[in-house]
Amino acid sequence: MRTPVCERLGCELPIFAFSHCRDVIVEVTKAGGFGVLGASTVSPEQLERELKWIDEHVGGKPYGVDVIIPTTYEAAAEKADEDPSRLIPQEATDFVEAILEREGVPPLPPDEEERVHKEIVTGRGAMTPEGARRLVETTLRHRQVRLVVSALGAPPPDIVEQLRAKDIMIGALCGKASHVRRHKEAGVELIVAQGTEAGGHTGEISTMVLVPQVVAEAGPGIAVLAAGGITGGSQIAASLALGAQGVWCGTVWLGTIESELDPFEKETIFKARAEDAVRRKVRTGKTVRMLRSKLSEAWDQPGAPAILPTPLQGILYNRAHARVVRARRGDLYSFPVGQSVGAVNAETTVKDVMYRMQLEYIDAMERLSALSGGSSA
Ligand SMILES: Cc1cc2nc3c(=O)[nH]c(=O)nc-3n(C[C@H](O)[C@H](O)[C@H](O)COP(=O)(O)O)c2cc1C
Repeated sequence: MRTPVCERLGCELPIFAFSHCRDVIVEVTKAGGFGVLGASTVSPEQLERELKWIDEHVGGKPYGVDVIIPTTYEAAAEKADEDPSRLIPQEATDFVEAILEREGVPPLPPDEEERVHKEIVTGRGAMTPEGARRLVETTLRHRQVRLVVSALGAPPPDIVEQLRAKDIMIGALCGKASHVRRHKEAGVELIVAQGTEAGGHTGEISTMVLVPQVVAEAGPGIAVLAAGGITGGSQIAASLALGAQGVWCGTVWLGTIESELDPFEKETIFKARAEDAVRRKVRTGKTVRMLRSKLSEAWDQPGAPAILPTPLQGILYNRAHARVVRARRGDLYSFPVGQSVGAVNAETTVKDVMYRMQLEYIDAMERLSALSGGSSA
């Protein structure tokens, strides 16, 4: 399974794990894969603490950081220090409040309300260009970070220059082959071809269609990873067959012991089927694949207010989400998950997932080899 991107980054397996949870990053990386910490919802100070912890626990191995560098945002909320929640129209707040009240979801206790608000607003602040720059500066202080990925679009030239100066590989997500040219021009060396099946912000093209198109557009100098719907070794074999140099997974880690989710959240995810992972704009203002719930569908009702621009919709939605989690209401719970949520049915460890993926990969390669009359992989 070792491909050129493993040589470039210094990992044994081309299994990339996207996660917001530092424990997942460490376990995947220690098991030979490559963990990439999602940094879009933390402040620079919190990111500093997370990266320090990872540095201390990852046994000297390299890992990555993923930052959302937005291209569109509410202009008035441009400064990361300002609280953009003041721009949320009262009508939108009243709409959400009425739903939660009708459903009997209590408000958060005042101290928790304050903590959650701070967390959400700091996180959304990081989704401004200025906030993203501060996260990159924090990242640059950690020498074991060997890959920085831009989640929404190609990274701007000043950030590319800073990363190049430290020989950090530059990655970007991509949901359409037509985005590849812009990524190449920006100096991206690794493209995550993310199909519509994926959890989180996602486009409309499926992984099976997207990956070979992106590989063809990218050409030989750029590593392509397949993302969206991948939880098992046969899909890794398929991705390599499509021309990818590895896989990038997100949903599969949510069900692990190491994941950041609490037991109620995991149980809700274990019950979900592939068709329960729907694309909606309600969570951030941009299309996110997430669990369908009464809350995710509320904006489709007659009389519902318009979806707000990023980052306002995210603040509005995440405040409600915090109340739903506290009230343990599975019928209102929506977290970003991909269609592969249907294959995440019970708690396991990261190490077990990594081991299973490798065994399944060997099985898949043997099946293919038998088909062509050759010996085992
Ligand atoms: C809970 C969750 C949060 C995500 N947040 C981000 C993010 O902040 N930045 C990003 O680049 N991708 C994000 N993604 C997308 C992942 O990077 C990845 O492309 C996707 O999970 C792959 O598809 P899969 O979910 O089917 O494994 C997120 C995915 C999930 C499941």
